[in-house]
Amino acid sequence: MKKIAVLTSGGDAPGMNACIRSVIRACAHYNLEVFGIHRGYQGLIENEIHPMTTSSVANIIQMGGTILKTARSMDFMTPEGRKKAHQNLQNLGIEGIVCIGGNGTYTGAMIFEKEFGIPSMGCPGTIDNDLWGTDATIGYDTAINTAMEAIDKIRDTADAHNRIFFVEVMGRHSGHIALLSGIAGGAEGIFIPERGNEFDDIVHLYESKARKKEFSIFVVAEGDEEGRAYEISKRFQAIYPETDCRVTVLGHVQRGGRPTANDRILASRLGAHAVKALIDGRKNEAVGVVNNDIKFTSFQEAIEHKKDIQDNLWVLNTIITR
Ligand code: F6P
Repeated sequence: MKKIAVLTSGGDAPGMNACIRSVIRACAHYNLEVFGIHRGYQGLIENEIHPMTTSSVANIIQMGGTILKTARSMDFMTPEGRKKAHQNLQNLGIEGIVCIGGNGTYTGAMIFEKEFGIPSMGCPGTIDNDLWGTDATIGYDTAINTAMEAIDKIRDTADAHNRIFFVEVMGRHSGHIALLSGIAGGAEGIFIPERGNEFDDIVHLYESKARKKEFSIFVVAEGDEEGRAYEISKRFQAIYPETDCRVTVLGHVQRGGRPTANDRILASRLGAHAVKALIDGRKNEAVGVVNNDIKFTSFQEAIEHKKDIQDNLWVLNTIITR
């Protein structure tokens, strides 16, 4: 293998730049030519492919977002789109791809390899941490720290006004961010899609407190099955009309910002290992870190499984919110 390319796809996540940097620097180390594909699979189709060198990735390790930009490409889901993408790679003689993203990114890479034999290795990049085959995804640690800092600030004003806050955090189908930021932020209750009956639990808890707390913070994952923060707040207010409830939706603020040290280190490890794996002839696999060791998981397996939240943390949450 002499030439490879790197792309970021799907939702951006803090640490993606550290991963790109690591890929480019590893290519220099192993004497590979390397190209950056802009705007993910869409840029691959539209031939936005540029040579990169070690200096193209100088001074980016501390930056959120992705210097390669990202997209959720509908065209890559069509055979015509993928044909164009393949033609563009052939024209440049690119023989392999490191793709940084989530399940949609892995699926695209897998289909592409099946049709055209271009091998890919994946690096898990999403703030949601819902990818199988790695303890943490790139961006997750930064996102939980961002959410925790927001909760700390909300705590000040909740306390000052004796209010109940419902703080909605991201996690389209998963409660990882809610659970961890809720524990770290000292929330009184956490709503996640992986577990049920949280509303009844918080009502029960609220009733049972000998001394009713003057203010409370509940963290709600946007994907919770009981609804989003506004709906849950309304239900609560209907039962306790005397309470003064407020909702804060943190939204995309959780996707930006300087990556934490953990995210930069994770991303750097994954990027360099993905390059080495391509050189070693591996393909169709995601690189992860499990128990501090590098682990490869086939795209197929990664896509088929959903990573559950850590049950011991859920149990801890039920203990320390008493
Ligand atoms: O998958 C990451 C994520 O940030 C989810 O938590 C969220 O639901 C979604 O992306 C938002 O996507 P978009 O930026 O396309 O609105």
